[in-house]
Amino acid sequence: EQIEKGGYDHFMLKEIFEQPNAIRDTYRGRLLVNEAIVKMAGVEDNMKKFLNAERIIVVACGTSWHAGLVSEYIFEEFARIPVEVEYASEFRYRNPIITEKDVVIAISQSGETADTMAAIKLAKSKGAFVFGVCNVVGSSISRETDAGAYTHAGPEIGVASTKAFTTQITVLTLIALRLARAKGTMSSSDYRLHLQELELIPEKVEKTLLSDDHVKEISAIYKDATNFLYLGRGFNFPVALEGALKLKEISYIHAEGYPAAEMKHGPIALIDEQMPVVVIATRKGHYEKVVSNIQEIKSRKGKIIAIVTEGDVSVKELADHVIEIPASEEALSPLLTTIPLQLLSYYIAVMRECNVDQPRNLAKSVTVE
Ligand code: AGP
Repeated sequence: EQIEKGGYDHFMLKEIFEQPNAIRDTYRGRLLVNEAIVKMAGVEDNMKKFLNAERIIVVACGTSWHAGLVSEYIFEEFARIPVEVEYASEFRYRNPIITEKDVVIAISQSGETADTMAAIKLAKSKGAFVFGVCNVVGSSISRETDAGAYTHAGPEIGVASTKAFTTQITVLTLIALRLARAKGTMSSSDYRLHLQELELIPEKVEKTLLSDDHVKEISAIYKDATNFLYLGRGFNFPVALEGALKLKEISYIHAEGYPAAEMKHGPIALIDEQMPVVVIATRKGHYEKVVSNIQEIKSRKGKIIAIVTEGDVSVKELADHVIEIPASEEALSPLLTTIPLQLLSYYIAVMRECNVDQPRNLAKSVTVE
């Protein structure tokens, strides 16, 4: 097992650091920047279905559901297709309205999640075209879906999903870009820019991973906190949910993720000097509004850990700690902002002597209801 961990203390840390290559493997052969092409067989073969889709319904659970939420923002922005993101477990039991004009995208790292499988069977029985985004090749979900695209992240052993999440977002972004080009919903300069920027993401993840020691220091300060709040907006709202899920799963600290603007509708009541608040405050994403949320947290003495774009000035003045990430297009920023949140949960869990790779009560894939 020690050999399999490749010199890392845990699979989770190894998998966090594998992300630059995992993302490269995901887009290899699919993202052809020089030709300005995105090529994915499963999408090309079913282009008509995608182009005729009146809506995309994403079904997934847990972290895969969070990737689906990120894709909602991306599909709507790039390809102007309405998207609904559903917990597979709810979808399967509520007699959902599905027609042949719907494209259902099922996302699953393991390809074995029982609720997601049941949602796929239901969607198929109603005539929808079902497209799978799975990591495990030959898994049950990859066989049950009508077509699909693998994430090619390599085996993910840690129960807390990390590289599966970023590679799922990568695949979904590629699909959205392909559809945007086919539908003409993105200007060609914007389209090319996003292809170029996506190609640069692995390097930027590498750079983001250099914050490792700094995140470790922050973790030591907050390891005994009993609650955490995570805030983000737009493309980074689902990242806040994902950051909170990671912390809960492996450190057993209660954490909640919220869209930053919802703070004043309730969670703000929780903020006092005991409450660490992780805020994703990158420059392009509603920056001014998030800065004003940070001011509100500060005036209530909350402790602010902010994820900012390199060179940031305003948030630095307000926050207790800042973690810098390289600048990128806003739609691609979740691939970067999620990295420090993974590291934060990892180091806090290690410092609390938790079983990081096999947290209590959790299984890698939930194959029963
Ligand atoms: C993530 O850290 C979780 N352990 C869990 O939420 C997971 O994402 C969920 O069970 C879905 O699994 P899947 O992607 O294999 O379907």
